[in-house]
Amino acid sequence: MKDPASEVEELRNQLRRHEHLYYVLDQPEISDAEYDALMRRLQQLETEHPELLTANSPTQRVGGKPREGFVKVRHSAQMLSLDNALNEGELRDFDRRVRELLGDAPFRYVAELKMDGLSMAVHYRRGQFEQAVTRGDGTTGEDVTENARTIRSLPLHVNNSLAAFEVRGETVMNRRAFERLNAEREERGLSRFANPRNAAAGSLRLLEPQITASRRLDYYSYSLLGEGRPLFPSHWESLDELARLGFKVNNHRKLCADVEEALAFCAQWEAGRDGLPYEIDGVVLKVDSVDQQGQLGYTAKAPRWAIAYKYPARQAVTTVEDIEVQVGRTGALTPVARLKPVEVSGVTVSRATLHNEDEIERLGLQIGDAVVIERSGDVIPKVVRVHSQGSYRRPFQFPAECPVCGGKVVRAEGEAARRCINTNCKARLKESILHFAARSVMNIDGVGEALVDQLVDRGLVESVADLYSLTLEKLMTLERMGKKSAGNILRNIEASKQSLLPRVLNALGIRFVGERTAVFLAEAFGSLDRIAQADGEELQAAEEVGPKVAESVFLFFREPRNQELIRRLREAGLQFTYQVTRSKAGPFRGRTFVLTGTLPNLTREEATRLIETAGGKVSTSVSKKTSYVVAGKDAGSKLQKAEELGIAVLGEDDLLRLIEG
Ligand code: IVH
Repeated sequence: MKDPASEVEELRNQLRRHEHLYYVLDQPEISDAEYDALMRRLQQLETEHPELLTANSPTQRVGGKPREGFVKVRHSAQMLSLDNALNEGELRDFDRRVRELLGDAPFRYVAELKMDGLSMAVHYRRGQFEQAVTRGDGTTGEDVTENARTIRSLPLHVNNSLAAFEVRGETVMNRRAFERLNAEREERGLSRFANPRNAAAGSLRLLEPQITASRRLDYYSYSLLGEGRPLFPSHWESLDELARLGFKVNNHRKLCADVEEALAFCAQWEAGRDGLPYEIDGVVLKVDSVDQQGQLGYTAKAPRWAIAYKYPARQAVTTVEDIEVQVGRTGALTPVARLKPVEVSGVTVSRATLHNEDEIERLGLQIGDAVVIERSGDVIPKVVRVHSQGSYRRPFQFPAECPVCGGKVVRAEGEAARRCINTNCKARLKESILHFAARSVMNIDGVGEALVDQLVDRGLVESVADLYSLTLEKLMTLERMGKKSAGNILRNIEASKQSLLPRVLNALGIRFVGERTAVFLAEAFGSLDRIAQADGEELQAAEEVGPKVAESVFLFFREPRNQELIRRLREAGLQFTYQVTRSKAGPFRGRTFVLTGTLPNLTREEATRLIETAGGKVSTSVSKKTSYVVAGKDAGSKLQKAEELGIAVLGEDDLLRLIEG
């Protein structure tokens, strides 16, 4: 038998390694379930042997107690801000000053993305995470140690023999976490955060670390200091060392020989920023050599060796011509501003979401007002503020009835949204059908908006189950519907019956059950009936299913209308059971796959699950260790890399054949 102390040590090392692979490198090697099992074993040992517990054990990320307030801490050296360059000319001016001050000596720049979050200093002593402090006014910040401890990409333990060192970097919330947080807040009747930066700032300053943990913050480091001074002779080396120590360092960085290369980097990411999972507001340019940084020195508030090249805000001013109300799948009424079309960084914008009633009130917006709109990473632009009141402005009246079915609209206690409660509402039905048929759901090609409008308006479909009783004759009564396209649609509907249970679950439109949760539920229960019978507690045994999701699932299956829907879908022959044999001995044992591009039928989640079920591993980057790259439409650099390295490239059909064969 292993002695508990060494088992604990070994588990911690394993967990740290997997956290690094998952949260920093985005290249997990084990499944979440395997990770959880290791974590539970460690928790068990620490409970049995409390003397072995340490503050920085991987189990202690959310151990911190709620606090009364934050203690002020003085920084080792000022956390300065940067001067801005607002255009190419200003960046060239900066470059000229640098060259003059360095007396024409050769030098290089490091270009990094300017992440839009808030800066934070983190202190380590003998390799242990010790304290985290916000920037504050630059001289003193607030001690947010317990909250920072919950940031999974921030290591609590590093292999470094230095007595003490300090890391500085940016705390950010990525867009997905931000959207999810806002959606949740809206559900709970709370106001939305205006942008990911505010959300990150708000989350870091919460008094309950438990809540901070659920906000999924991320930390990108960009500076490594000892006693307030850089530890390496060049910034580029510091960044490499940070990455080597296990910190997350943004991979999009470049060592530039001159300002031209720096400008090219700025232009590249100005065009590419929408594709990043987090918001950036520019590029930071730094003189690489620390000696030369010293020669250049500082002004009162910023270094002379660095500058922030700020991207222009993607904002424009236009008029709100009207406010329309859209009805979603859950009946939620969303006000949408109809705008006088305006161009914002190359895209014409004519609509912007207003989210809900409270938002209109917060903005103080009326129809006819001129507003500032902004395009951020997401598809739908938003209204930032009222620019000036229109002379013929009129207040927006939220409709008391559903604009589509005329049914009753209610605003439930504690909810921000008003909802149409008529489950037969045509708008809700249309949205439900579109969701049901979507590519990542039941994948019924040909069932788009135009068709759904007709199907519903003519009463051919009153429930998603009616899709399965459509006939050639019925379809051919529709406008512009030939025999051939009708036949195709029927074939696609028929083929959708083979969709696996996770898709069926997602298709049902249960609140809070999306693609990912559907997979976890299917895996945990193996059949729709067992999910339908489970009580709240049993449901929570599935991965990532908490009380809120469990309640929603439980209630869904208790509703007679939904029971009827399920009866009819069963009759139609949809897949209600699901087999998972995630075996280490499957055909893909020892094989590593990389997915790239859009596959014709499988979603990324599904392909991953299939590969894992067959014993394989899925990684996000191509290396010599990759066995296969599975490529779909619009595959990019990963496919190129595979070809360079001579790695076999498969299509979706090859993959399926390999799994079956
Ligand atoms: S360097 C003296 N690098 O931008 C060096 N800052 O306007 C100061 N920021 O307060 C910071 N990404 O919050 C640096 N790659 C990056 C950055 C970055 C974002 C933020 C940081 C700083 C502000 C300066």
